[in-house]
Amino acid sequence: MTTPQRNLYGRRRGPKLRDNRATLMRDRMDHYAALSGETGDGLDLAALFPEQRKFWLEVGFGAGEHVAAQAAQNPDVGILACEHYLNGVASCLAHLEKAALTNVRVHNGDARDLMDRLPDGSLERVFVLYPDPWPKARHHKRRFINPENLEAFARIMADGATLRVASDIPDYIDWTLEHLAARDEFVLLGDAESGFREPWSDWPGTRYEAKALREGRTPAYLTFQRKPR
Ligand SMILES: C[S@@+](CC[C@H](N)C(=O)[O-])C[C@H]1O[C@@H](n2cnc3c(N)ncnc32)[C@H](O)[C@@H]1O
Repeated sequence: MTTPQRNLYGRRRGPKLRDNRATLMRDRMDHYAALSGETGDGLDLAALFPEQRKFWLEVGFGAGEHVAAQAAQNPDVGILACEHYLNGVASCLAHLEKAALTNVRVHNGDARDLMDRLPDGSLERVFVLYPDPWPKARHHKRRFINPENLEAFARIMADGATLRVASDIPDYIDWTLEHLAARDEFVLLGDAESGFREPWSDWPGTRYEAKALREGRTPAYLTFQRKPR
C-alpha cells in the first residue's frame, strides 16, 4: 500500500522537549507506536491489541488527556490515537505511563496515513475533538471534517459505530452538520432543538475545551452514527 502525498498544515514541533519528555520519546515511543514494524499493508488490530476486541480512533488528541481518560475508563477497548504535534505526543506518552495504560497505540503523524491502513468496518467509535478551525474561507479546505475524510470514516467505521465531534466554533459546527448531512452513511443522533450543548456522559473534557470555556465560547457536542451497510 502506498501512502498518498497530502498536505498537512499546523505545527509539528514546538519548543525543545524537556529532558524527561525527550527521554520518554526516545525510550518508549517504539513501544506505543501504532505503525512501527508493520509492513505498510492493512493494520492488524488483533495483533496490536491482543487483549481487546473493540477499537476506537482519536484524531488530533492534542496533549492526550482525553485519550488517556477514555483508555482508563474502557480497558476492554484498544484506542488508536493520532497527533502530528511532537510535543503533544510526548505529553500523551507521559499520561499513558503515569496511569500504566496498555490499551493505547499512538501514531505521531497524519491521522489519514493510519486511517488508510485500517480494515473496513473496524472501528466502534471515532473522536474528532476541537479540530483546527481554519476560520478563513480560503483555508476551509484544510478542515479535517471534509468529504475525503468522511468517505474514509464511512469505510472504517462498523455499522452502528459512532463519530463524536466537538467544536466551539459555530461555523465549524454548522460545517460539520452540513458535511455529514450530505452523506448517506451517517445519521445525526440527539435533539437538534437542544443545540447539542450537553457533553457526553463520559466526557472528561480536553485542554483545548478548557481554554475555549475560559474565553467564553460555547461548545457543541455532535454524535453521528454509521448506518448499517
Ligand atoms: C485545536 S487542537 C485540539 C487538540 C485536542 N483534541 C483538544 O481538544 O485539546 C487540534 C489538534 O489536531 C491535530 N491535527 C490536525 N490535523 C491532524 C492530522 N491530520 N493528523 C493528526 N493530528 C492532526 C493538531 O496538531 C492539533 O493538536
